[in-house]
Amino acid sequence: MTRISTAPPQELTAALELLLDERSRKSLAERAARISAVYRGGGATAQAILDEDDALAYALYRLPATYAATIHALGRLRERAPHFAPRRVLDLGAGLGTASRAAREIWPRIEKLSLLDRSAPFLALARRLAGEALSAAEIVVGDLSAPPDLGGPFDLVVASYAFTEIAEDSLATAVDAAWANCGGALALVEPGTPRDHARLMRMRARLVAAGARVSLPCPHSAPCPLAPPDWCHFSVRLARSRDHKLLKGADAPFEDEKFAYLVATRAEAEIAPAPARMSARPEVLKHGLRIKLCTEAGIAEVMVAKRDKRKFAPIKKKDWGDEVAAEEISAGE
Ligand SMILES: C[S@@+](CC[C@H](N)C(=O)[O-])C[C@H]1O[C@@H](n2cnc3c(N)ncnc32)[C@H](O)[C@@H]1O
Repeated sequence: MTRISTAPPQELTAALELLLDERSRKSLAERAARISAVYRGGGATAQAILDEDDALAYALYRLPATYAATIHALGRLRERAPHFAPRRVLDLGAGLGTASRAAREIWPRIEKLSLLDRSAPFLALARRLAGEALSAAEIVVGDLSAPPDLGGPFDLVVASYAFTEIAEDSLATAVDAAWANCGGALALVEPGTPRDHARLMRMRARLVAAGARVSLPCPHSAPCPLAPPDWCHFSVRLARSRDHKLLKGADAPFEDEKFAYLVATRAEAEIAPAPARMSARPEVLKHGLRIKLCTEAGIAEVMVAKRDKRKFAPIKKKDWGDEVAAEEISAGE
């Protein structure tokens, strides 16, 4: 994939720095620790983000990772469908507008952005941080499992790390509502855990039953062939800023965010899936590479020998999550 910056946009970083000048880093770090404990314990935003300073702590310690995963997934969509140029975008469970900002970076000509969330502190800070990227955005308070009339359909509906918070018994209605608002592509980005992958697969099955085509990351719309304990997820590396490190109490200059994603599309969007995709990091062996693929025919493992230069040269440039063309899939000599 052409390299995309996974760092939050400069405009957002600058706006956050201004707010930080008025705050104690120590108190924000304490808030970040509490918020992290709530999310890790399976709690949702309603328990984690109680006021605008909590939202600010989230912006510094967690948003860089959700942004990186989301812009990576949307970058994959652009790579698969260069002709797709959404003008109207709906961001469900928008929080601070993370996915909206990522979508704007990928498709700068977006004309209308609508953000829906039920968290008052997140939306209050989203308004304060709006800047140019979200200046004309419509920010709506509401429940994504029973959304108000948002003036859809939208060319792109995106939800980043939002469905993970929807209760099991509301998941079906929430995904139906997202699909009803979608006139082109629906992109769901979720944490890369077995639980979230299993839920994503249930949403996938429901979308397919409703007539959706699965365009990414899967090469087909048939049921997912993976069986537990295996699950489909990807990884994105992001640099940590000084404040990010401070709030996390971490020294490492980067972190790897594991995420799962799904893009379901309507036939009109004409987004065909790739014939195959690397479903893990290639394993480097003495004589070549062992590559795990998800293909139209199911899960496959291929060996590409170093001496098979015609195949080895292009494949060694690829990584986990990359598309693989049909001619690259056949086993090496
Ligand atoms: C972990 S945050 C993610 C925020 C943002 N999308 C991001 O990627 O950083 C989950 C978001 O989903 C929202 N959310 C959860 N359940 C919701 C619901 N039923 N209706 C609307 N928003 C919801 C939360 O308020 C929160 O803003």
